[in-house]
Amino acid sequence: MKITVVGTGYVGLVSGACLADVGNDVLCLDVDPAKIRILEEGGIPIHEPGLQEIVRRNVAAGRLSFTTDVEYAAKFGAIQFIAVGTPPDEDGSADLQYVLAAARNIGRHMDGYRVVVDKSTVPVGTGDKVREAIAAELKARGADLPFSVVSNPEFLKEGAAVEDFMRPDRIIVGAEDERAILLMRELYGPFQRNHEKLLVMDVRSAELTKYAANAMLATRISFMNELANLAEALGADIELVRQGIGSDPRIGWHFLYAGCGYGGSCFPKDVKALVSSGREHGHDLLILNSVEQANEGQKLRLVDKIVARFGPDLSGMHFGLWGLAFKPNTDDMRDAPSRVVIGELFRRGATVSAYDPVAMDEARRIFGGEARLRYVDRPMAALEGADALVIVTEWKEFRSPDFERIRELLRHPVVFDGRNMYEPVTMRRAGLEYHGIGRR
Ligand SMILES: NC(=O)c1ccc[n+]([C@@H]2O[C@H](COP(=O)([O-])OP(=O)(O)OC[C@H]3O[C@@H](n4cnc5c(N)ncnc54)[C@H](O)[C@@H]3O)[C@@H](O)[C@H]2O)c1
Repeated sequence: MKITVVGTGYVGLVSGACLADVGNDVLCLDVDPAKIRILEEGGIPIHEPGLQEIVRRNVAAGRLSFTTDVEYAAKFGAIQFIAVGTPPDEDGSADLQYVLAAARNIGRHMDGYRVVVDKSTVPVGTGDKVREAIAAELKARGADLPFSVVSNPEFLKEGAAVEDFMRPDRIIVGAEDERAILLMRELYGPFQRNHEKLLVMDVRSAELTKYAANAMLATRISFMNELANLAEALGADIELVRQGIGSDPRIGWHFLYAGCGYGGSCFPKDVKALVSSGREHGHDLLILNSVEQANEGQKLRLVDKIVARFGPDLSGMHFGLWGLAFKPNTDDMRDAPSRVVIGELFRRGATVSAYDPVAMDEARRIFGGEARLRYVDRPMAALEGADALVIVTEWKEFRSPDFERIRELLRHPVVFDGRNMYEPVTMRRAGLEYHGIGRR
């Protein structure tokens, strides 16, 4: 099949590359010429395990190409995926300007039947807006061309995106006409050879399913974070509580880790957007309001602990910081807790030496020439001359560090661990003062 993917970010590039890998002819469009240049030169603009090889293989096979030419892209694929960003507007609602611009471009230039598939995470009702935008452009051209609008939200996780796309748990298709449903079944056939994973529903339910999934996961995290804070006050250990409840199959193990807050390009904005949708329709989503509020507070939890230990004025102090990305295996720092922690340390007069295996370039882009932030190329180098260590992202390479070396390097043998990576007893034995989240 000939497929156009509009938007070549985390979702668009992964989808485009994986769809090409099963034999489709895929064209990826982006309005950012810098991104397209990197791709045309054989690189990839993001860090995503396994993606570079798939891109290279499919470009070489002639099945995957890139463009900034909107007209060419609209004429290329019978299936047009929209995978552009939907960032939060000032009031928290999803900003649809990129989705609607993409839809208008398709309407302006399409020259035959198109299935327009919305993969971006969008509020309920966006399918109708996309349909109207395309229809308005066709009308303005005096063109009478058939098209269908489908909602196909994406559930891939950054850091495991290729695997998730190739072996999805489920494929949600919101569509109301048979021609489009048939095409989607054909398109996704190669990704569900083992058993049927495609769930067909109406467009609105599909749109809401995506928000419901992210909101539920964010809720579990905020729930555990609140309990972790309470556990500290009560003298209980949240890790033991986690194991105690995770073993209940009705609860399960996933997304029960307490920490210094969730971040990333999805949970914060999607929770806000759902709350905003609720408000717009006269429903105050009490639980989700609190989920977001609890998370904002949790991002400050590490600094609260630092202040409790060293006092509110941190001027002259220097902290080693491990982990900048919002989670391991990605370079994405959108809404990352590290940004809040670093900003708060600066505000209190401290300086920081930071290490992250892949997000350092992204941090340089975000913090610019900030003199209070030094980047180092090894975890232990972040501890040289540092008063204490702060851990914000649970990268695998931090799991088993040389604790003795940490103690030797730090001016005060104190570790603030926002991801509960270590056992308090191990740390005590190593002569380190350990502050986890909700640990005893
Ligand atoms: N990142 C994730 O893990 C993830 C997972 C599931 C769903 N989503 C959703 O998918 C959507 C995309 O997310 P992302 O993380 O890939 O975003 P991103 O910011 O990485 O990529 C979006 C891309 O779209 C491009 N773009 C904007 N307007 C365009 C236009 N009119 N034509 C062509 N290109 C255009 C931008 O230049 C950018 O490269 C969002 O709605 C997001 O909520 C993201």
